[in-house]
Amino acid sequence: MNADPQPVDLGPAESNPAGHSATLLVLGIETSCDETAAAVVARDGAGRGRILSNVVRSQFDAHKIYGGVVPEIAARAHTECLDDIVAAALSEAGVGLADLDGIAAASGPGLIGGLIVGAMTGKALALAAGKPFLAVNHLEAHALTVGLTNHVNPPYLMLLVSGGHTQLLWVEGAGRYSRLATTIDDALGEAFDKTAKLLGLPMPGGPAVERAALSGDPKRFKLPRPMLGREDPHFSFAGLKTAVRHAAQAASKEAAGLTDQDISDLCASFQAAVCDSVADRVVRSLRRVSDRFAAGAPRPFVVAGGVAANAALRSALTQLAHQNGFQLYAPPIGLCTDNGAMIAWAGAERLHLGLIDGLGAPVKPRWPLDPDAAPAQGAGVKA
Ligand code: KG4
Ligand code: ZN
Repeated sequence: MNADPQPVDLGPAESNPAGHSATLLVLGIETSCDETAAAVVARDGAGRGRILSNVVRSQFDAHKIYGGVVPEIAARAHTECLDDIVAAALSEAGVGLADLDGIAAASGPGLIGGLIVGAMTGKALALAAGKPFLAVNHLEAHALTVGLTNHVNPPYLMLLVSGGHTQLLWVEGAGRYSRLATTIDDALGEAFDKTAKLLGLPMPGGPAVERAALSGDPKRFKLPRPMLGREDPHFSFAGLKTAVRHAAQAASKEAAGLTDQDISDLCASFQAAVCDSVADRVVRSLRRVSDRFAAGAPRPFVVAGGVAANAALRSALTQLAHQNGFQLYAPPIGLCTDNGAMIAWAGAERLHLGLIDGLGAPVKPRWPLDPDAAPAQGAGVKA
């Protein structure tokens, strides 16, 4: 059995359901972190996608007393409910296993226990139903989601901002990515989550910070704009998070505790610093890739991953793209964070290309989209 995806001969389109002009129906399974999710999507012969079902169950309650995701608890929770979630996704879509053309499961990067639960379930279903199995890279699924939701096709520049990654990638198609920039320390989602935690806000941190920021003054706290003006294209957020801690401690000392207004002002100031820093980083890569598009051709710039749900960031990036002759595309808010539809869609794209995996495909806790990217100077292990 092959561990790596191999192009396979699918035969003539008319005689094979996975042929190029046929509609492909794919089940996608997502268990890489703390959402258990399954979905069915259809990809028609013209490459247009449709979501037939999308079932997501969050594990926030199971982890909240620990203040972060506990890998062992996550894996157990996936085991307990994945069968029901898959059954619900199939039933909502009105299809049975026999109707599917392929079964896709997120096989990395992520927490190994959860990945094993999802991949083993996907493989067992594929074996039982005699369907191809697709081992999907979770980051690739985020990267290709706009193809499903906004009908935007590569090539495009993409900002991937999630709980574990912050990268700018040049996307040429499924399996074809060049990383232009990465974070040298914390991922942006991680910075949101840590900021929320230190301010006593509930999980998940990103949405909680965004909510609190709505009634805050973004100018009250003077926070640093990490990497501003630096020539290299990379990101850094660890210093900003520390600056929020210092500002919170100072405000708390003055008034013997933080008020709700202090927390809102800190969140708004943090979010403003994030937007300025990200914009300064992104503009360099926008300029770098500008001449890769034909004169007058549309220049898509895509933002994806959980933090792409943030309205302040979406609005800052929309403006930045517009000022630089690009157009911003972002998935609908509900499909920025982890879900099964993105896995099913990436699986359908790969199936269309004949990139089918054997049942021996491994799960990969670390699985960069561009394994050949040079390490960023000063980067820690996460880059
Ligand atoms: O893509 P995702 O669901 O999971 C990973 O692949 O990591 O991203 C989760 C991250 C978390 O850090 C979460 O706090 C952040 O995305 N996030 C947000 C928002 N919604 C989710 N960050 C800022 N604003 C939001 N509205
Ligand atoms: Zn994700």
